This record gives sequence, C-alpha cells and structure tokens, in this order.
Amino acid sequence: MCGIIGIIGRDGQDIVSNILQGLEKLEYRGYDSAGIAVWKNESIHRVRAVGKLCNLQDKLKKTPINGEMGIGHTRWATHGKPTEENAHPMMTKDIALVHNGIIENYEVFKNELIRQGYQFTSQTDTEVAAFYLQAELDKGANPREAFRKMLCDMRGTYAFVAMFRSLPGILFCAKNKSPIAVGFGENMCVGSDASSISSCCDEITYLNDGEYAEISKDGSVFFDKFFNEIQKDRIKVTSDLVNSGKGTYDHYMLKEIMEQPSAIRKTIQANKISKDFLGGVSRILILACGTSYHAGLVARYWYEKYLKIPTIVEIASEYRYRCPVIEDNTLVLAITQSGETIDTLEAMEYVKKSNKTCKVAAIANVKNSAISRLADFVFYTEAGVEIGVASTKAFTAQLTVLALLAFCDRPDLMAQIMSLPSVCDETLELLSAEIDALAEELQEASSAIYLGRGNLYPIALEGALKLKEISYIHAEGLASGEMKHGPIALIDDKMPVICLCPSGKIFDKMFSNIQIAKARGQSIVVFTDEAGAVQFDCRTIVLPEIHEELAPILYSIPLQLLAYKVTVLKGEDVDKPRNLAKSVTVE
Ligand code: M6R
Repeated sequence: MCGIIGIIGRDGQDIVSNILQGLEKLEYRGYDSAGIAVWKNESIHRVRAVGKLCNLQDKLKKTPINGEMGIGHTRWATHGKPTEENAHPMMTKDIALVHNGIIENYEVFKNELIRQGYQFTSQTDTEVAAFYLQAELDKGANPREAFRKMLCDMRGTYAFVAMFRSLPGILFCAKNKSPIAVGFGENMCVGSDASSISSCCDEITYLNDGEYAEISKDGSVFFDKFFNEIQKDRIKVTSDLVNSGKGTYDHYMLKEIMEQPSAIRKTIQANKISKDFLGGVSRILILACGTSYHAGLVARYWYEKYLKIPTIVEIASEYRYRCPVIEDNTLVLAITQSGETIDTLEAMEYVKKSNKTCKVAAIANVKNSAISRLADFVFYTEAGVEIGVASTKAFTAQLTVLALLAFCDRPDLMAQIMSLPSVCDETLELLSAEIDALAEELQEASSAIYLGRGNLYPIALEGALKLKEISYIHAEGLASGEMKHGPIALIDDKMPVICLCPSGKIFDKMFSNIQIAKARGQSIVVFTDEAGAVQFDCRTIVLPEIHEELAPILYSIPLQLLAYKVTVLKGEDVDKPRNLAKSVTVE
C-alpha cells in the first residue's frame, strides 16, 4: 500500500517524466493522492494532488517543475484523510521524504518535535520522519547521521526514500516490511517494485528488512541494520517483472481475465510437483487472505479427499492472534499473489518462530517478493504481472498449483489439468454474450447471493467478493446447505441468486437447494453444464464439461466476467476500486 519512487538522472537530465511514468505503474498500490518533489540548484520543489495520478499530471501541466533528482508517491491513506496536506512527499526546509508503511511510535516524536517548535502541517505519521531528520540537521548532524539515527528510533513498517537539499545526486532509502527495489542502469533509481523503475534500469536488487542504502550515480552503498557496509546481488530486469500495459483492452482486469488460459498453461509447465514433496507431512496448514484464502479453501476439499492429509485453512490476519496449536510435520502453504501481504507474512513468521518441524512453502506470483524470500520453498504461479486490484488470473493460477499438488499421484486427474487451458479458452469465447445480458440485469440490484456446495462453495465466496469489491453491490457467498439456517430470509423477488451447479456427485443436493431458493425468489440463475441444464426449468448458463474436481477453476471465470461487466455498466473504476489497493502491507 502506497507506492514510492526515487530517481537520480544521468548528467543532470530532467527526471519528472520518468517519475510520473513510474507512478503510473505504482498506482495499483494506492490512489488517494499523488505527489512529486524534485531537486534543482540546491532547492526542492513539490507538487501534490488529491485523488488519482491524472490529477497530479494535470496540475503539473499548469505548473511544470523540473529537476535532476526527485521522489514520488501514490498514497493509500492510513493516518489522515486523503487531502493535499496529507499527500506525500512530506517536506521541511531541507528535506523531502516519501514513505510506505506505518510509523507506530510517531506520536512520541511528534509531541517532542512540536515542543521544540517544529510546525506540522499534516495528520500523517510520515511527517514525523521528515521533521525528525530536520531536527537532527538543525542540531548539526550530517544527512547520513540524521538518517541513521532516525532508523534507530522509528518503530513500525516502512519503506523510505529521502532527499536532502544540501546533497545533490544522493537518495537515502530504507526498508522494514514494506518493499524496496534499487535499480542500476542509465539512471539510478529506487521503487516499491521492479516494474516502476524498469524503464530506468537494467538490473535491480531488493533491500531486506533492516537494510538501508545511499543511492548515487557514482555508486550506491548498502548497509545492514548495524550500518556495516554490505554487497548485494543484482538480478536482471526481465519481462515477467514488468507491467506490459493494457494492450488493446479497456481495463487491466479484462486483459487479465482473458490471459487465464495462458497463465494456467505456463503455471502447469513451471511446476512439476512430485509426491516426494509430501514426504513426512502429517498435516497441512494454509495461510492466506482475500481471494488467495478462497483458493486455499478449495484446496482443503482436494487435500483431505485425495492426499488424506488433515488440512486447515486460516485467514492469515486472524491466525497468530488466536494462539494456534502448531504441530510438528506440518506443511505450511502461504498463498499470495503479491508476495507482500503483511498478514500472511506475519503468520508465516509466527509459524517459523514456533520451532516446530514445519516445512514452510509459498505459492506466490511475484518473484523475489518478501513472502517468497521468507519461505523454505516457493511454487511460482506464472500468471505474469497482475495490475487489476481484483485478482483474477492469479487466483486460477493458484488453484492450478494447488491442484498439481493434490493430484500428483492421480494421472487421470493430471490429464484433466492439462486440458484446462483449452477449456478455459472455450468458456471465455462461449459465454461473453450471455454474461453481458446477465450483467445488464444485475447492475440494478443492491444485493446478490452466490450459492455453491462442496468445492464450489469457496467459488461462491469468491464470486461474491469479486462483485462487491469492484461494483459496490453487496454480495454474499453461501454454502447452499447453510442457506436454510438463516440467509434464506434475504430471498425475495428482487434478490438475484447465482448458483453454481455442474453435474457430479453433489448435483442432487445442490439441485434441491436451488429449488428451495426458486420457491421464494424470481431471479435465479444457474451456472451448469449440458447434462445439468436439462434438469432445470429456470435460467441456466451452460459451461463446457469439466471433471467435477476442476470445476472451481472453470466456474470462477464467468463470475469474474460478470463482476467486470456489471462494474463497467455502472461506470465505476474497474481497476482501481475505492478504498482498496493491490498490495496490502498494513495490518
Ligand atoms: O497478494 P495477496 O494474494 O496476498 O492478496 C490477498 C488479498 O488482499 C487479495 O486477494 C484481495 O482480496 C483482492 N483484492 C481480491 O480480488
């Protein structure tokens, strides 16, 4: 949450357009406000604007600035409302600073700095860091001493980039929990992810927690948490780290939905999982949040049925606060698209600190992310960069990895997995018009119910999450057998009920649940297959045949499309829904 960037131009070249380009790629991390500060001739100029980056760009057209070194920020508000005063960069007379994270002990310093006469202009925790540095400079410290002292004193999570008026060509940056990549190339640069700085550099390195760097065009220097100088390995910036844009699509989300057949194909190719991986494992613990948690819920059905290994799935943000019992020989699977979600990261760390004999593995989409670096073993989903805040291709790729593990000893089901890319392709082609018609009706609703049973219950949860997070229509996913225990009271003529009911072992039970809903509501839609469709006398949308174990992957796709199309019809911002950000790096 929050995107930060800093660039030092080669030979004094202006870097404003490079920073804005980088901020465009970081906007997925927050869009409550954006700002930029640039250094030129020993002075720092700043422009900030509330709302999306385009507002800052408009402002800069009217009041252009330029400079040979600068920093930028896209904000997801934590402390203080999304106003211009609270937009980063934060500035004092000698310093400009951007921050991603939360400074937990900021109030102690704020009170003391106010007592010393420093005048704060924002409600943010970040401004404390800027004034802390200023106060140290005022006491006679040099920038390095001031920055190091600040790192010793500030508690919480942070990625900082700071520049000093008196120090041309040098940026200071530091990391604790929030990500930072440092880029080497034509320009020297630093950003929240590799994509944001990819056009300025050929190689990057990631800072680890506690590390800090002094970036300069004459050579960057890296330090560990004791301020000992360290050497860092660099990796090449490859296309899988870079956001390649929307192409011909109107929105990233649609592009990402359409990319699913190829994401699944590449994920299958990259992950050859053998049964040996499960050697000595007597239980499985899945940790994840949001959509990734739903992927874990599907896996539980598979793992207990096929691997015969007791499996629990935990909402990562709850896990470590309930004093869970951790047993030896547990395989921990942390599922994450971004690889940055702090709740998941902290839950993994909690397990690691337990000193139990656990194998901690991650299923991650972003290479070298914090979660993949913490895990003992990583399965990468090969979905490519996912920009739409609503996760789509990363989800079906996660399910693919989870299925490859579940069915590693079942050649019949492995063959079914291999056929997934073409079945998904067929589904995307086949259903578009029908989903358009359904979306027209659903856009009028104020609420919707999604029903599923067995391994499709998590897909009902996921379908409801997709709809609510981007269209703002309230939606609930329910285990259809649970409906009669309360939620059935919600069903009336106006309530759309979206049911997932392919033929298979559980069809009859689900069929009865749908009849119960039909007896009370008017707007029932059933996603099913040809064999199932003949049994219904209500509206059906027919998907290609698929083995019932793999239905969760296929049935996710029309629900993603439905949420997308409803949102477009409602005129809402599909890729940047309100209040959300793609990487959730605050607890
Ligand atoms: O990056 P992660 O998979 O760890 O993110 C977890 C959730 O924040 C994420 O899935 C979120 O729920 C998405 N907005 C869902 O579309």
